[in-house]
Amino acid sequence: MQPGPSERDPYNGLTRAEPTLPSSAYWDAEAYQRDLDAIWYKSWLLVCREADLAQPLAFRTFRIGTQEIVVLRDETGALRAFHNTCRHRGSQLCQESEGRLKARLITCPYHAWSYSLRGDLVRVPSKSLPEGFDKAEHPLYRVALSVWSGFVFVNLAEDAGGSAETSFDPASGDLSNWPLETLVSGHVLRKVMNCNWKIFWENFNECLHCPGVHKDLSRLVPIYGRGLMGRHDDPQWARHADNDAPEFSGGLRAGAETWSSDGQAHGPVFADLTPAERAAGQTYATSLPSMFIVGHVDYVRTVRLVPLGPEQTELTAEWLFSSEALEAPSADIDNIVAFGRQVLEEDAGICEVNQKGLRSMRHKAGVLMPEEYDLHRFHNWVRERSAAHSPKP
Ligand code: FES
Ligand SMILES: [Fe+2]
Repeated sequence: MQPGPSERDPYNGLTRAEPTLPSSAYWDAEAYQRDLDAIWYKSWLLVCREADLAQPLAFRTFRIGTQEIVVLRDETGALRAFHNTCRHRGSQLCQESEGRLKARLITCPYHAWSYSLRGDLVRVPSKSLPEGFDKAEHPLYRVALSVWSGFVFVNLAEDAGGSAETSFDPASGDLSNWPLETLVSGHVLRKVMNCNWKIFWENFNECLHCPGVHKDLSRLVPIYGRGLMGRHDDPQWARHADNDAPEFSGGLRAGAETWSSDGQAHGPVFADLTPAERAAGQTYATSLPSMFIVGHVDYVRTVRLVPLGPEQTELTAEWLFSSEALEAPSADIDNIVAFGRQVLEEDAGICEVNQKGLRSMRHKAGVLMPEEYDLHRFHNWVRERSAAHSPKP
Protein backbone atom coordinates (compact mmCIF):
# COMPACT_ATOMS: atom_id res chain seq x y z
CA MET A 1 0.00 0.00 0.00
CA GLN A 2 1.09 3.60 -0.46
CA PRO A 3 2.12 5.61 2.60
CA GLY A 4 -0.91 7.11 4.30
CA PRO A 5 -1.58 10.72 5.14
CA SER A 6 0.22 10.23 8.48
CA GLU A 7 3.54 10.99 6.80
CA ARG A 8 2.37 14.48 5.90
CA ASP A 9 0.17 15.24 8.88
CA PRO A 10 0.46 13.59 12.27
CA TYR A 11 -3.33 13.23 12.49
CA ASN A 12 -4.22 9.98 10.79
CA GLY A 13 -7.94 10.51 10.29
CA LEU A 14 -9.72 11.02 7.00
CA THR A 15 -10.83 14.60 6.61
CA ARG A 16 -13.16 13.99 3.64
CA ALA A 17 -16.06 11.59 3.36
CA GLU A 18 -14.73 8.78 1.18
CA PRO A 19 -16.96 6.12 -0.36
CA THR A 20 -16.42 2.42 0.23
CA LEU A 21 -16.08 0.03 -2.67
CA PRO A 22 -19.41 -0.61 -4.42
CA SER A 23 -21.50 -3.22 -2.59
CA SER A 24 -21.35 -5.56 -5.57
CA ALA A 25 -17.58 -5.86 -5.02
CA TYR A 26 -18.45 -8.11 -2.07
CA TRP A 27 -20.83 -10.59 -3.73
CA ASP A 28 -20.82 -10.29 -7.52
CA ALA A 29 -19.29 -13.27 -9.38
CA GLU A 30 -17.55 -11.08 -11.95
CA ALA A 31 -16.11 -8.84 -9.27
CA TYR A 32 -14.82 -11.93 -7.48
CA GLN A 33 -13.18 -13.19 -10.67
CA ARG A 34 -11.56 -9.77 -11.13
CA ASP A 35 -10.18 -9.96 -7.57
CA LEU A 36 -8.72 -13.38 -8.33
CA ASP A 37 -7.19 -12.29 -11.64
CA ALA A 38 -5.99 -8.84 -10.57
CA ILE A 39 -4.94 -9.57 -6.99
CA TRP A 40 -4.79 -13.19 -5.87
CA TYR A 41 -3.14 -14.55 -9.01
CA LYS A 42 -0.58 -11.72 -9.02
CA SER A 43 0.51 -11.43 -5.39
CA TRP A 44 2.85 -13.25 -3.06
CA LEU A 45 0.64 -15.57 -1.00
CA LEU A 46 1.46 -17.41 2.19
CA VAL A 47 0.95 -21.15 1.83
CA CYS A 48 2.72 -22.79 4.78
CA ARG A 49 5.87 -22.79 6.88
CA GLU A 50 9.13 -24.36 5.80
CA ALA A 51 8.81 -26.70 8.80
CA ASP A 52 5.62 -28.12 7.26
CA LEU A 53 7.81 -29.49 4.46
CA ALA A 54 10.79 -30.45 6.59
CA GLN A 55 11.82 -33.69 4.85
CA PRO A 56 12.97 -34.19 1.26
CA LEU A 57 10.06 -35.40 -0.92
CA ALA A 58 7.47 -33.85 1.42
CA PHE A 59 4.67 -32.13 -0.47
CA ARG A 60 1.49 -30.18 0.16
CA THR A 61 -1.18 -29.02 -2.24
CA PHE A 62 -2.98 -25.69 -1.97
CA ARG A 63 -6.01 -24.25 -3.70
CA ILE A 64 -6.13 -20.53 -4.45
CA GLY A 65 -9.35 -19.60 -6.23
CA THR A 66 -9.62 -22.20 -9.00
CA GLN A 67 -5.89 -22.88 -9.07
CA GLU A 68 -4.27 -25.89 -7.43
CA ILE A 69 -0.60 -25.70 -6.58
CA VAL A 70 1.78 -28.37 -5.31
CA VAL A 71 4.68 -27.26 -3.12
CA LEU A 72 7.43 -29.78 -2.41
CA ARG A 73 10.93 -30.17 -1.07
CA ASP A 74 13.13 -31.84 -3.66
CA GLU A 75 15.89 -34.37 -2.98
CA THR A 76 18.50 -31.58 -2.69
CA GLY A 77 16.45 -29.75 -0.02
CA ALA A 78 15.19 -27.00 -2.31
CA LEU A 79 11.53 -25.95 -2.15
CA ARG A 80 9.66 -25.88 -5.44
CA ALA A 81 6.14 -25.07 -6.54
CA PHE A 82 4.18 -26.14 -9.61
CA HIS A 83 0.65 -26.10 -10.89
CA ASN A 84 -0.76 -29.47 -9.87
CA THR A 85 -1.48 -30.27 -13.51
CA CYS A 86 0.05 -32.73 -15.96
CA ARG A 87 1.35 -31.41 -19.31
CA HIS A 88 -0.12 -34.38 -21.21
CA ARG A 89 -3.87 -33.91 -20.96
CA GLY A 90 -4.09 -31.84 -17.84
CA SER A 91 -4.79 -34.42 -15.16
CA GLN A 92 -4.32 -33.52 -11.53
CA LEU A 93 -0.94 -34.87 -10.36
CA CYS A 94 -0.89 -35.07 -6.54
CA GLN A 95 -4.27 -36.19 -5.26
CA GLU A 96 -3.62 -35.87 -1.54
CA SER A 97 -3.44 -32.57 0.34
CA GLU A 98 -0.12 -33.54 1.89
CA GLY A 99 2.31 -36.41 2.15
CA ARG A 100 5.64 -37.75 1.06
CA LEU A 101 6.39 -38.66 -2.56
CA LYS A 102 7.38 -42.31 -2.90
CA ALA A 103 10.13 -41.57 -5.42
CA ARG A 104 12.19 -38.68 -6.73
CA LEU A 105 9.60 -38.33 -9.44
CA ILE A 106 6.09 -36.98 -9.73
CA THR A 107 4.15 -39.51 -11.77
CA CYS A 108 0.81 -38.63 -13.25
CA PRO A 109 -1.94 -41.04 -12.11
CA TYR A 110 -3.52 -41.07 -15.60
CA HIS A 111 -0.93 -42.19 -18.21
CA ALA A 112 2.18 -42.14 -16.02
CA TRP A 113 4.15 -39.26 -17.45
CA SER A 114 6.89 -38.66 -14.89
CA TYR A 115 8.56 -35.42 -13.90
CA SER A 116 11.72 -34.79 -11.91
CA LEU A 117 11.26 -32.78 -8.72
CA ARG A 118 12.72 -29.84 -10.65
CA GLY A 119 9.67 -30.14 -12.89
CA ASP A 120 11.37 -31.56 -15.99
CA LEU A 121 9.46 -34.17 -17.96
CA VAL A 122 11.70 -37.26 -17.82
CA ARG A 123 9.54 -40.21 -18.82
CA VAL A 124 6.72 -40.73 -21.32
CA PRO A 125 5.57 -44.37 -21.47
CA SER A 126 4.19 -44.28 -25.05
CA LYS A 127 5.61 -46.91 -27.40
CA SER A 128 7.01 -44.18 -29.58
CA LEU A 129 7.13 -40.42 -29.53
CA PRO A 130 5.61 -38.37 -32.33
CA GLU A 131 7.75 -36.27 -34.58
CA GLY A 132 8.13 -32.74 -33.29
CA PHE A 133 7.59 -33.73 -29.68
CA ASP A 134 10.39 -32.62 -27.38
CA LYS A 135 10.20 -33.54 -23.69
CA ALA A 136 12.13 -30.38 -22.84
CA GLU A 137 9.18 -28.34 -24.06
CA HIS A 138 6.77 -29.93 -21.59
CA PRO A 139 8.02 -29.29 -18.07
CA LEU A 140 5.56 -28.76 -15.24
CA TYR A 141 4.13 -25.27 -15.04
CA ARG A 142 6.49 -23.66 -12.53
CA VAL A 143 5.23 -21.29 -9.83
CA ALA A 144 7.44 -18.64 -8.21
CA LEU A 145 8.29 -19.42 -4.59
CA SER A 146 9.90 -17.25 -1.94
CA VAL A 147 10.66 -17.84 1.72
CA TRP A 148 10.50 -15.15 4.38
CA SER A 149 11.65 -16.02 7.93
CA GLY A 150 10.54 -19.62 7.58
CA PHE A 151 7.22 -18.81 5.86
CA VAL A 152 6.69 -20.13 2.32
CA PHE A 153 4.99 -17.85 -0.20
CA VAL A 154 4.07 -18.52 -3.82
CA ASN A 155 3.15 -16.15 -6.64
CA LEU A 156 1.10 -17.45 -9.58
CA ALA A 157 2.11 -14.64 -11.93
CA GLU A 158 4.33 -15.94 -14.74
CA ASP A 159 6.42 -12.76 -14.45
CA ALA A 160 6.33 -12.60 -10.64
CA GLY A 161 8.58 -9.86 -9.32
CA GLY A 162 9.74 -8.99 -5.82
CA SER A 163 9.70 -11.52 -3.03
CA ALA A 164 7.78 -12.61 0.04
CA GLU A 165 9.70 -10.01 2.01
CA THR A 166 8.86 -7.12 -0.32
CA SER A 167 5.20 -8.11 -0.19
CA PHE A 168 4.85 -6.75 3.35
CA ASP A 169 3.25 -3.35 3.78
CA PRO A 170 6.18 -1.03 4.57
CA ALA A 171 3.90 0.95 6.88
CA SER A 172 3.29 -2.12 9.04
CA GLY A 173 5.52 -3.45 11.80
CA ASP A 174 8.99 -4.97 11.71
CA LEU A 175 9.34 -8.44 13.25
CA SER A 176 13.07 -8.86 12.69
CA ASN A 177 13.69 -9.15 16.46
CA TRP A 178 11.41 -12.19 16.75
CA PRO A 179 13.06 -15.64 16.22
CA LEU A 180 10.42 -16.55 13.64
CA GLU A 181 12.29 -19.37 11.91
CA THR A 182 12.75 -21.42 15.07
CA LEU A 183 9.19 -21.17 16.40
CA VAL A 184 6.97 -24.23 16.50
CA SER A 185 3.25 -24.57 16.04
CA GLY A 186 1.23 -24.81 19.25
CA HIS A 187 -2.29 -24.49 17.87
CA VAL A 188 -4.12 -24.10 14.56
CA LEU A 189 -7.64 -22.74 14.03
CA ARG A 190 -9.34 -23.28 10.66
CA LYS A 191 -12.58 -21.54 9.98
CA VAL A 192 -14.75 -20.91 6.94
CA MET A 193 -16.23 -17.42 7.15
CA ASN A 194 -19.31 -16.54 5.14
CA CYS A 195 -17.94 -13.24 3.91
CA ASN A 196 -15.95 -11.84 1.03
CA TRP A 197 -12.18 -11.76 1.69
CA LYS A 198 -12.18 -7.92 1.55
CA ILE A 199 -14.69 -7.74 4.41
CA PHE A 200 -12.17 -9.48 6.67
CA TRP A 201 -9.42 -7.02 5.72
CA GLU A 202 -11.69 -4.02 6.18
CA ASN A 203 -12.54 -5.19 9.67
CA PHE A 204 -8.83 -5.73 10.34
CA ASN A 205 -8.10 -2.16 9.28
CA GLU A 206 -10.20 -0.33 11.83
CA CYS A 207 -11.01 -0.42 15.52
CA LEU A 208 -14.24 1.54 15.45
CA HIS A 209 -15.90 -1.83 16.02
CA CYS A 210 -13.67 -2.72 18.99
CA PRO A 211 -15.66 -1.18 21.87
CA GLY A 212 -18.84 -2.98 20.78
CA VAL A 213 -17.44 -6.23 19.37
CA HIS A 214 -14.32 -6.90 21.47
CA LYS A 215 -15.16 -6.14 25.11
CA ASP A 216 -12.26 -8.14 26.59
CA LEU A 217 -9.75 -6.97 24.00
CA SER A 218 -10.81 -3.39 24.63
CA ARG A 219 -9.94 -3.87 28.30
CA LEU A 220 -6.54 -5.35 27.42
CA VAL A 221 -5.72 -2.64 24.83
CA PRO A 222 -7.36 0.48 26.26
CA ILE A 223 -6.97 2.62 23.13
CA TYR A 224 -9.12 0.04 21.28
CA GLY A 225 -11.82 0.75 23.84
CA ARG A 226 -11.82 4.32 22.46
CA GLY A 227 -12.38 2.96 18.93
CA LEU A 228 -8.86 3.98 17.88
CA MET A 229 -5.78 2.05 16.77
CA GLY A 230 -3.05 4.55 17.64
CA ARG A 231 -2.22 7.88 19.24
CA HIS A 232 -2.55 9.88 16.03
CA ASP A 233 -6.04 8.58 15.26
CA ASP A 234 -7.41 11.10 17.77
CA PRO A 235 -8.11 14.55 16.29
CA GLN A 236 -7.20 15.90 19.76
CA TRP A 237 -3.99 13.90 19.95
CA ALA A 238 -1.81 16.98 20.56
CA ARG A 239 -3.57 17.60 23.88
CA HIS A 240 -2.35 14.21 25.09
CA ALA A 241 0.93 14.12 23.17
CA ASP A 242 3.02 13.53 26.32
CA ASN A 243 0.57 11.20 28.03
CA ASP A 244 1.97 7.67 28.09
CA ALA A 245 -1.15 6.09 29.55
CA PRO A 246 -2.14 3.16 27.30
CA GLU A 247 -5.48 4.70 26.33
CA PHE A 248 -3.38 7.34 24.53
CA SER A 249 -0.13 5.50 23.71
CA GLY A 250 -1.79 2.32 22.39
CA GLY A 251 0.02 -0.22 24.61
CA LEU A 252 -1.48 -2.93 26.79
CA ARG A 253 -3.24 -2.09 30.08
CA ALA A 254 -0.98 -1.58 33.10
CA GLY A 255 0.46 -4.90 34.28
CA ALA A 256 -0.37 -6.83 31.09
CA GLU A 257 2.43 -8.35 29.01
CA THR A 258 0.73 -10.10 26.12
CA TRP A 259 -2.53 -11.09 24.46
CA SER A 260 -3.83 -13.80 26.80
CA SER A 261 -6.92 -14.24 28.92
CA ASP A 262 -5.07 -13.08 32.05
CA GLY A 263 -2.76 -10.64 30.24
CA GLN A 264 0.31 -12.56 31.43
CA ALA A 265 3.08 -14.09 29.35
CA HIS A 266 3.10 -17.90 29.54
CA GLY A 267 6.63 -19.08 28.91
CA PRO A 268 9.90 -17.29 28.23
CA VAL A 269 9.82 -13.81 26.72
CA PHE A 270 11.72 -13.50 23.41
CA ALA A 271 15.22 -12.31 24.28
CA ASP A 272 15.95 -9.84 21.49
CA LEU A 273 12.92 -7.57 21.68
CA THR A 274 13.52 -3.88 22.32
CA PRO A 275 11.96 -2.21 25.39
CA ALA A 276 9.54 -0.46 22.99
CA GLU A 277 8.51 -3.79 21.41
CA ARG A 278 7.90 -5.28 24.86
CA ALA A 279 5.94 -2.26 25.98
CA ALA A 280 3.78 -2.25 22.84
CA GLY A 281 2.76 -5.86 23.55
CA GLN A 282 1.78 -6.39 19.88
CA THR A 283 3.54 -5.74 16.57
CA TYR A 284 1.59 -6.35 13.37
CA ALA A 285 3.03 -6.99 9.91
CA THR A 286 0.74 -7.34 6.91
CA SER A 287 1.18 -8.96 3.52
CA LEU A 288 -1.93 -8.34 1.43
CA PRO A 289 -3.98 -10.16 0.37
CA SER A 290 -3.10 -13.41 2.12
CA MET A 291 -1.82 -12.87 5.65
CA PHE A 292 -0.92 -10.89 8.69
CA ILE A 293 1.35 -11.81 11.55
CA VAL A 294 1.37 -10.44 15.08
CA GLY A 295 4.40 -10.63 17.33
CA HIS A 296 3.74 -10.70 21.06
CA VAL A 297 6.45 -10.92 23.73
CA ASP A 298 6.07 -14.69 24.20
CA TYR A 299 4.46 -15.99 20.99
CA VAL A 300 3.51 -15.11 17.44
CA ARG A 301 0.20 -15.54 15.68
CA THR A 302 -0.37 -15.71 11.93
CA VAL A 303 -3.66 -15.42 10.11
CA ARG A 304 -3.84 -16.70 6.54
CA LEU A 305 -6.78 -16.11 4.20
CA VAL A 306 -7.88 -18.05 1.13
CA PRO A 307 -10.88 -16.91 -0.93
CA LEU A 308 -13.32 -19.77 -1.49
CA GLY A 309 -15.97 -17.82 -3.36
CA PRO A 310 -17.52 -14.34 -3.61
CA GLU A 311 -19.04 -14.73 -0.15
CA GLN A 312 -16.80 -17.28 1.49
CA THR A 313 -13.27 -17.09 2.85
CA GLU A 314 -11.18 -19.63 4.72
CA LEU A 315 -9.17 -18.38 7.67
CA THR A 316 -6.29 -20.33 9.17
CA ALA A 317 -4.79 -18.96 12.37
CA GLU A 318 -1.65 -20.49 13.80
CA TRP A 319 -0.05 -19.84 17.19
CA LEU A 320 3.74 -20.20 17.15
CA PHE A 321 5.84 -20.58 20.28
CA SER A 322 9.45 -21.24 21.18
CA SER A 323 9.98 -24.95 21.76
CA GLU A 324 10.94 -24.13 25.39
CA ALA A 325 7.57 -22.48 25.89
CA LEU A 326 5.70 -25.52 24.60
CA GLU A 327 7.75 -27.83 26.80
CA ALA A 328 7.65 -25.71 29.97
CA PRO A 329 5.24 -27.18 32.55
CA SER A 330 4.29 -23.63 33.60
CA ALA A 331 3.37 -22.59 30.07
CA ASP A 332 -0.39 -22.25 29.93
CA ILE A 333 -0.85 -22.20 26.18
CA ASP A 334 -4.62 -22.52 26.54
CA ASN A 335 -4.76 -19.15 28.25
CA ILE A 336 -3.14 -17.59 25.15
CA VAL A 337 -5.02 -19.59 22.54
CA ALA A 338 -8.42 -19.01 24.16
CA PHE A 339 -8.00 -15.24 24.03
CA GLY A 340 -6.90 -15.17 20.39
CA ARG A 341 -9.69 -17.55 19.38
CA GLN A 342 -12.23 -15.34 21.11
CA VAL A 343 -11.06 -12.23 19.23
CA LEU A 344 -11.02 -14.08 15.90
CA GLU A 345 -14.48 -15.54 16.49
CA GLU A 346 -15.79 -12.07 17.35
CA ASP A 347 -14.26 -10.66 14.15
CA ALA A 348 -15.47 -13.54 11.97
CA GLY A 349 -18.96 -13.23 13.43
CA ILE A 350 -19.26 -9.50 12.75
CA CYS A 351 -17.76 -9.93 9.25
CA GLU A 352 -20.59 -12.35 8.46
CA VAL A 353 -23.13 -9.85 9.78
CA ASN A 354 -21.57 -7.17 7.55
CA GLN A 355 -21.78 -9.49 4.53
CA LYS A 356 -25.46 -10.25 5.10
CA GLY A 357 -26.45 -6.59 4.80
CA LEU A 358 -24.59 -5.88 1.59
CA ARG A 359 -27.16 -7.41 -0.74
CA SER A 360 -29.66 -4.60 -0.23
CA MET A 361 -30.63 -3.25 -3.65
CA ARG A 362 -30.62 0.25 -2.13
CA HIS A 363 -27.09 0.05 -0.70
CA LYS A 364 -24.81 0.91 -3.62
CA ALA A 365 -21.85 1.91 -1.44
CA GLY A 366 -21.09 3.01 2.11
CA VAL A 367 -19.09 5.93 3.50
CA LEU A 368 -15.98 5.97 5.66
CA MET A 369 -15.47 7.77 8.97
CA PRO A 370 -12.17 9.45 9.92
CA GLU A 371 -10.96 6.45 11.97
CA GLU A 372 -11.24 4.28 8.84
CA TYR A 373 -8.20 5.81 7.15
CA ASP A 374 -6.45 2.43 6.84
CA LEU A 375 -9.57 0.98 5.28
CA HIS A 376 -9.39 3.77 2.69
CA ARG A 377 -5.77 2.81 1.98
CA PHE A 378 -6.91 -0.80 1.55
CA HIS A 379 -9.67 0.28 -0.84
CA ASN A 380 -7.19 2.28 -2.88
CA TRP A 381 -4.85 -0.72 -2.95
CA VAL A 382 -7.70 -2.83 -4.36
CA ARG A 383 -8.76 -0.09 -6.82
CA GLU A 384 -5.22 0.36 -8.15
CA ARG A 385 -4.79 -3.35 -8.77
CA SER A 386 -8.18 -3.69 -10.44
CA ALA A 387 -7.46 -0.71 -12.67
CA ALA A 388 -4.05 -2.06 -13.66
CA HIS A 389 -5.58 -5.37 -14.66
CA SER A 390 -6.94 -5.43 -18.19
CA PRO A 391 -8.83 -8.65 -18.92
CA LYS A 392 -7.60 -10.55 -21.96
CA PRO A 393 -10.02 -10.34 -24.89
S1 FES B 1 -2.81 -36.69 -18.27
FE1 FES B 1 -0.98 -37.05 -17.20
S2 FES B 1 -0.07 -38.68 -18.22
FE2 FES B 1 -1.89 -38.34 -19.31
FE1 LIG C 1 -11.77 -6.83 15.38
